[in-house]
Amino acid sequence: MAKRIINFGIIGGGLMGREFASAAARWLHLQGLDFEPCIVAICALHEASTVWFRENIPTVRLATTDYRQVLDDPQVDAVYIAVPHNLHEQFYTDAIRAGKHLFGEKPFGIDLRANEAILAGARERPDILVRCSSQFPFFPGPYRIGQWAREDAFGKIIEVEAGFWHSSDLDPGKPINWKRRVETNGEYGCMGDLGLHILHIPLRFGWVPKSVRALLTRIVDERPDANGLLTSTEVWDNAILACDVETQNQAFPLMLSTKRIAPGHGNTWFIRVLGTKLSAFFATQNPKQLAFLPYTPDSQAWRMLDMPHTSAYPTITGSIFEFGFSDAILQMWAAFCDELIHGPQMQQPFTCATPEETHTSHRLFTAALESQRTGKTILL
Ligand SMILES: NC(=O)c1ccc[n+]([C@@H]2O[C@H](COP(=O)([O-])OP(=O)(O)OC[C@H]3O[C@@H](n4cnc5c(N)ncnc54)[C@H](O)[C@@H]3O)[C@@H](O)[C@H]2O)c1
Repeated sequence: MAKRIINFGIIGGGLMGREFASAAARWLHLQGLDFEPCIVAICALHEASTVWFRENIPTVRLATTDYRQVLDDPQVDAVYIAVPHNLHEQFYTDAIRAGKHLFGEKPFGIDLRANEAILAGARERPDILVRCSSQFPFFPGPYRIGQWAREDAFGKIIEVEAGFWHSSDLDPGKPINWKRRVETNGEYGCMGDLGLHILHIPLRFGWVPKSVRALLTRIVDERPDANGLLTSTEVWDNAILACDVETQNQAFPLMLSTKRIAPGHGNTWFIRVLGTKLSAFFATQNPKQLAFLPYTPDSQAWRMLDMPHTSAYPTITGSIFEFGFSDAILQMWAAFCDELIHGPQMQQPFTCATPEETHTSHRLFTAALESQRTGKTILL
């Protein structure tokens, strides 16, 4: 089968830049696709951060510390940008203006104003695909929950809860980095880092918060900097958001939590949907298992489904084998490339997070900050 090659530039050669490089290198894992990414350019702040890419990806022709060189390269069709949040606005709007399809990282702007500037840029170039990274809905369990939501299988929604919990920040000796400073991470703190991940599914199915009461906490007050000197931490460690959702035909609570300090949790993303006909629960701690409960009047029995490996796109992996983080990243990338090549005729219906969904997440986080300041419920 002749494949359409999409030439990518990666801007940001850190944790996530390398994840994409690995997903692209593993494209042979996916079956029956008529498109494939090819990484031709890499940009990082320091030349040393480009070495790994140059050594591992033979197709890289351009390695630079100036992202504009990637945007000026006529052979680059699309860019993946994974840089600190304070750079999102400038880098994303420049990429769109340069006519490059953009896959950007969350939170898609350091604050609401930056996010709106990115969306304004995207509106000026409707020919450019602009999407935001969010891989967890591509695990087989949440993907099935999405299918159930699309089929209206839950009945009347009683309540939805979604969370993303870490615990590495429980160590007060963990050095402060850009993700723990307001200047580079933003005032949202843990909400900006983790929030879109838990909102992607609710927002996609129209479960949009109308109001929020937030409880934000800062637990570790100081951390050592690069020189070992104790520095005040500035960002929120944990957030609990009680939201009120109203759709055309129902109203229900949406409980969201993003925590960097949740003892016992390495990297737990979860969603629980309770409905009058069907309920479902998935957590990445048990990546193969999807709990569900079809309502019958005579019993209250949760059932456990051992999910097959397949989610959005078929792979060579046997269906009995377990699915993991890097598989979700690969599936998400397939969805981005599929939409880029096929538009609305893409192979399956679940697209990566849209700019509008990032905007709703920013409105929510901004309202949550106000709720924390005032102690009040804030209408969105
Ligand atoms: N999808 C996910 O699960 C996930 C996970 C972690 C982080 N992220 C997001 O990815 C983005 C990057 O996070 P990360 O964890 O990869 O960070 P990181 O610190 O590991 O990497 C950041 C990279 O940005 C580069 N950079 C900084 N300034 C630059 C400049 N002026 N020009 C070019 N490159 C520059 C650095 O060289 C570094 O390679 C953030 O938006 C973050 O929220 C997403």
